[in-house]
Amino acid sequence: MTSAGQAPPDAPMDVVIEHYDQQYAEGGFGYGAQRDRWAAWVRRHYIDEFELRPGETLLDVGCGDGFWTDLFAEAGFPSTGVDFSPGGIEVARTAYPRPTFLVGDAEDLPFADDSFDIVFTRAISHLSRPDLFTDASRRLMASMRRVLRPGGLILISFYSRRDGGGTPEHAWHRVSDLVRLIEGVADPFHIDVTGNYVQIGAQRWDAPRARSGRTNGASRRTSPTPGSSARGTLRRALGRARRALRGR
Ligand SMILES: C[S@@+](CC[C@H](N)C(=O)[O-])C[C@H]1O[C@@H](n2cnc3c(N)ncnc32)[C@H](O)[C@@H]1O
Repeated sequence: MTSAGQAPPDAPMDVVIEHYDQQYAEGGFGYGAQRDRWAAWVRRHYIDEFELRPGETLLDVGCGDGFWTDLFAEAGFPSTGVDFSPGGIEVARTAYPRPTFLVGDAEDLPFADDSFDIVFTRAISHLSRPDLFTDASRRLMASMRRVLRPGGLILISFYSRRDGGGTPEHAWHRVSDLVRLIEGVADPFHIDVTGNYVQIGAQRWDAPRARSGRTNGASRRTSPTPGSSARGTLRRALGRARRALRGR
């Protein structure tokens, strides 16, 4: 996630689309140069950390040029990417034949209710706006929740304010504020913080996702990294919340 490549957060939609069309035509964010590194990141911070099960269907909201969508597809998740940048979707379709890609608005997702097991979003523009609690953010959350099947998982990945970061135009928010936004539509049950990246998993209130019961961190990293102690503190706090959720 690079702030340099992000569109001005409060720009009108047509300006944002034009910005990203150009960004993707010029090579996107350059993640492909380190595909193995990011594939390992997906395994560790998304699949293992949130106990995603290969075979589950996944929607990547604001998928851009499809790089992350394809990493999920490669890992065994039937994946669909949606973005309102036609340029991004064109690049995605050309570069990655595995997933399905569609042009569409994240705030009004072009799918039926209850369509996906996992609804994922990474670095979506809404979360870098100085005001996180906009109508647009709420529409995004509601739209993601609508297409999630009962028992499904919303997984949001972004920067947090921890370790600084952000620019005058692009705010990084506190983890607690991101959680507050998400809990308007689903119950956050687990947070992964690494440096100033944060991953938040949330499940539908009406049909909590069955968990594997793993509590010993078996799939966790084995060597300490920056942020690991904060991760531990947050994990313990969220573990309590998760146990409370399970008891419902
Ligand atoms: C910073 S890029 C992140 C792309 C990709 N998820 C990644 O992590 O590399 C933000 C993406 O969100 C998309 N986006 C922003 N608002 C959107 C909306 N309302 N509907 C669909 N896509 C949107 C942009 O077109 C852009 O591709």
